[in-house]
Amino acid sequence: MRLFVAIGLPHQAASELDEVVAPLRPAWPELRWTGRDAWHLTLAFLGEVDEAVIARLAVRLERAAGRHPFLSLSLSGAGAFPGASRARVLWTGIQGDRHELSHLAASAGAGARRAGAPPAGGGRGYQPHLTLARCRAPANVHLLVGTLGSFAGTPWVATEVHLIHSRLGAHPRYEVIGTWPLRAGPAPRPAGGRGATGGGASPGQPGGSVP
Ligand code: 2AM
Repeated sequence: MRLFVAIGLPHQAASELDEVVAPLRPAWPELRWTGRDAWHLTLAFLGEVDEAVIARLAVRLERAAGRHPFLSLSLSGAGAFPGASRARVLWTGIQGDRHELSHLAASAGAGARRAGAPPAGGGRGYQPHLTLARCRAPANVHLLVGTLGSFAGTPWVATEVHLIHSRLGAHPRYEVIGTWPLRAGPAPRPAGGRGATGGGASPGQPGGSVP
């Protein structure tokens, strides 16, 4: 089974994003746009996992989730991998408890590794993002990155992580096969009292590439 670990997007955050993304899709048919029903924040991509491993994986992911606090997150701006001039992936960025989000991603990856389902690519170089579109061939998406650059969604509190089964096809289908709660309570604020939107470098500047 092709599996990944992710945080879901609440209805309001998806609606706000859809409001700005939907009008852009028709003018860019050469991109393979993701649909709002499929939107998620990937924490760890595990790739093909033997079904026999899933019970162990569940134990490890439950433990990993329970060690991390609720996360205040918001969607923000846009960018492209590997860069806006020859993009393969167009994304919107994540603001808020980015530091804790990265820790959670590392824990999920480490737990999966211990369960016998190591993340693809070793799980290194985690870049918090939500994929909006994939490019069939490298594309210049500066205009899109510029248009989406000012997008700033309403923050929400993430309280759980999901293990998701991905079925590939013309439109990939995602099925949640496990859900585990984060530890109740907010992430500790960094000294100096920066708020939920101050969690690090902004990935969402016009023309930006890797955050
Ligand atoms: P993406 O959003 O950056 O494309 C389901 O396919 C999820 O797993 C997607 O969010 C996707 O990340 C991620 N994913 C798919 N293939 C991957 C790979 N080879 N390495 C890392 N993440 C991958």
